[in-house]
Amino acid sequence: MTGRILVLSLAATIAAGANSPQVSPVSTAPLPSNASEGAAIFARECSKCHGPDGKGLAEFGTPDFTDPKVQSRLTDARIVATIKNGKKGTLMPAWSKKLSAREILLIAAFVRSLNAAKEASPDSSSGVEPGAYEAGDDVLFSLPTGRRLDRHGFYVNFTHRFAYDPAFSGTARGGALSGLEGFSLSSFGFRYGVSERFSVSIYRSPTFIARPIQLMLAYNFASEQDGAPLNAAVRFSTEGQNNFSRNFTHNIEVIVSRSIGSRAQLYVVPTLSLNSHRLFSPNSFRSRSIPNMPGFNTFSTGAGGVLDVRPTVAVLAEVIPTFVNGRPLGIHRPAFGFGIQKKIWRHAFTFGFTNSPGTTVSQRSGTRAAFLNNPSADTFKGLVIGFNLTRQIY
Ligand code: HEC
Repeated sequence: MTGRILVLSLAATIAAGANSPQVSPVSTAPLPSNASEGAAIFARECSKCHGPDGKGLAEFGTPDFTDPKVQSRLTDARIVATIKNGKKGTLMPAWSKKLSAREILLIAAFVRSLNAAKEASPDSSSGVEPGAYEAGDDVLFSLPTGRRLDRHGFYVNFTHRFAYDPAFSGTARGGALSGLEGFSLSSFGFRYGVSERFSVSIYRSPTFIARPIQLMLAYNFASEQDGAPLNAAVRFSTEGQNNFSRNFTHNIEVIVSRSIGSRAQLYVVPTLSLNSHRLFSPNSFRSRSIPNMPGFNTFSTGAGGVLDVRPTVAVLAEVIPTFVNGRPLGIHRPAFGFGIQKKIWRHAFTFGFTNSPGTTVSQRSGTRAAFLNNPSADTFKGLVIGFNLTRQIY
């Protein structure tokens, strides 16, 4: 069945079904035959609960729209009514105020086109790449994923690094919960999707890593979800220590990622930091504990990967070597980290280990060796616990 016939027959069904109490009459004005328009709306509004390929997500209990049994259980009218009115007592929201009647018909036609039993037709091809992986957080552990945000989506990001107490070495680690009882560098920030491609963010790290505030603009110029072979984003940011008053660093990052199937993704992040500063830990809250410091232009390239081992659980690892001017910043070994991530609707929690106390763009490539002035603190023995939390507030 072609997309046009599908949409027309759907419109006819709706017109005929106007006596059904759930379905309010829908205009049957000429409909576009472009099924991929519905696919694009599905990708934007529905895929976070129904999966990018419409196969359903375990954590929401959403049905598999590619399953012929699910399709035969649903009528066209019921699909449209569910999209318009939502489903009481479930997470399925009502869309009649957010989407036009035409858009609802387009998505309904797209949902129908997912039926695996239907004969393959060339123009039902959707804009949704079934293979694309969607990162659960804006970072892997500290390395950015470059994921796109929802347009007008508002996100909060927390990071905690228990930078002073190694998790596994030293005495009585068990008693101190492997360092989790120790002192945490707790940073937080907000990120806002101005459009689907363009986002802004503000982020602050605490006093004991020199109190930087980081302002950032990010632009996603390619997305696998639009059929591109890669995801690519560029980000510009400025960090200023002591609450944006001194030791400014300007960063340019390019974030390139590629999915391997729908369960894994690889990342490469070349980063230029102009006027970057050595990590150190101020010994008091006073401003003069954060002196003016010399800056160095550094270049690092982070690399990482993530793999979903269960539908909502991912494992991830990253390494961020500094190739230019690492020495003056006291970086002897690359920063690295690894962790495990749990994804629940609009949230992700990541727990892991790292040798880096930094989470801003320029600080993330620094290691504990510089921070604590202890050359051996950035080896496996010096790994510390950290965790990240992100939440999309709306
Ligand atoms: C916040 C999560 C969420 C979003 C966003 C969402 N859905 Fe759902 N949807 C659900 C859940 C949960 C169910 C399963 C409800 C149930 O238990 O029957 C569902 C069920 C459905 C059903 C099946 C209804 C039935 O009668 O079995 C359709 C069709 C559907 N959604 C379409 C969509 C479309 C189209 C969009 C985007 C415009 C969308 N949903 C967005 C959570 C969501």
